[in-house]
Amino acid sequence: MIKHSKLTKNLAVVLLLALTVNSCKKQVSDQFDIDAVISKTELQLEHACKVVETNTKGKKILPRSIDGDRVIMVSSSDWTSGFFPGELWMMYDLTGHEKWKNKAIQYTELLEKEQYNTGTHDVGFMMYCSYGHGYRTTGNPEYKKILIQTAKSLASRYNDTIKCTRSWDHNPKLYTYPVIIDNMMNMELLLWASKETGDNTFKDIALNHANTTIKNHFRKDNSSYHVVDYSPETGEVIKKVTNQGFADESIWARGQAWGLYGYTVMYRETHDPKYLDQANKIAQVVLSYDKMPEDNIPYWDMHAPNIPNEPRDASAAAITASALYELSTHSKTNKKTYKEAADKIIETLSTKNYLVKVGEKQGFLLDHSTGNWPRNSELDVPIVYADYYFLEALKRKKELEGIK
Ligand code: GLY
Repeated sequence: MIKHSKLTKNLAVVLLLALTVNSCKKQVSDQFDIDAVISKTELQLEHACKVVETNTKGKKILPRSIDGDRVIMVSSSDWTSGFFPGELWMMYDLTGHEKWKNKAIQYTELLEKEQYNTGTHDVGFMMYCSYGHGYRTTGNPEYKKILIQTAKSLASRYNDTIKCTRSWDHNPKLYTYPVIIDNMMNMELLLWASKETGDNTFKDIALNHANTTIKNHFRKDNSSYHVVDYSPETGEVIKKVTNQGFADESIWARGQAWGLYGYTVMYRETHDPKYLDQANKIAQVVLSYDKMPEDNIPYWDMHAPNIPNEPRDASAAAITASALYELSTHSKTNKKTYKEAADKIIETLSTKNYLVKVGEKQGFLLDHSTGNWPRNSELDVPIVYADYYFLEALKRKKELEGIK
């Protein structure tokens, strides 16, 4: 009798163990397989390199997006030129495969002359995503010199009456001194240059720019305008409008993502709580969109007129996910919420609805981004910056989860 009950007990333990192992297995198999996604992106980036090699013509040397079946190639002066080299650096980080480092160097160095480009704020994007990543990886002193020269070019666009750097020079009939929310992304280069050179001018410009933007770019509900146009003489706001959104008062999805990312970086680099506060406020906006689709990939504008029949913007989602991963490391109260929200986005972007099949769509990684709806340009297509921030988000997710 005693023996029998012992046997039953042992059997029960074995059964329980088997059930536990099985349920663990199930949990593991249900889990997102980040390495499988990275392997796919690596194969697709190999395809992209071949596409770029065969489509390089004259000054058109870097991939930006697609139009029908055709890859759209751009010159080094295009605002998106730094993203492809940046992706190559990112792939080197993700895989450790030396070939990506060599390719990253090759494509980064195509941008060298842009260090002297004083005609746009976008040099921050262009050079910090390429040379900036290259410098962090290699410590190449030549890259440092180029980045410092770029910071000087960007700083030349600062107006101390307005206390902002100017975004665009184009459309002088439309704008006097336009500053766009996207410009927050260029402050990282200035903050870096200050640390490297000990020259506080760069940092002061970045802080002033960020503070003026907090003052003038945000609405009461913490969503942001796209463009604020200033008077350079008085520093006063002339108008608050949109260029790429649906309407002046609408919520252009990528603009919110740029703001979220920009203020997260500002906090990382300064530890000033007002920037963390701003990033948190933007996160609340982005995470509580009224009409957010079930899959967490926003419409290109959250007030677009024909929702749910409007194109999405996967780029806004990828930028948001990458920013939220970082913000989760700074936030004390919303750590889990931000990490889980970023995970949800990345898992969706990794499904077949968004992640392009290896060998298709000219080597781009993600489908369904929207570049400039009002100009009828790049609607619901793959765009290079979506891919860049997607890879950055994957890298941040791996780092956060301690995955080797
Ligand atoms: N910075 C331009 C854009 O987001 O389309």
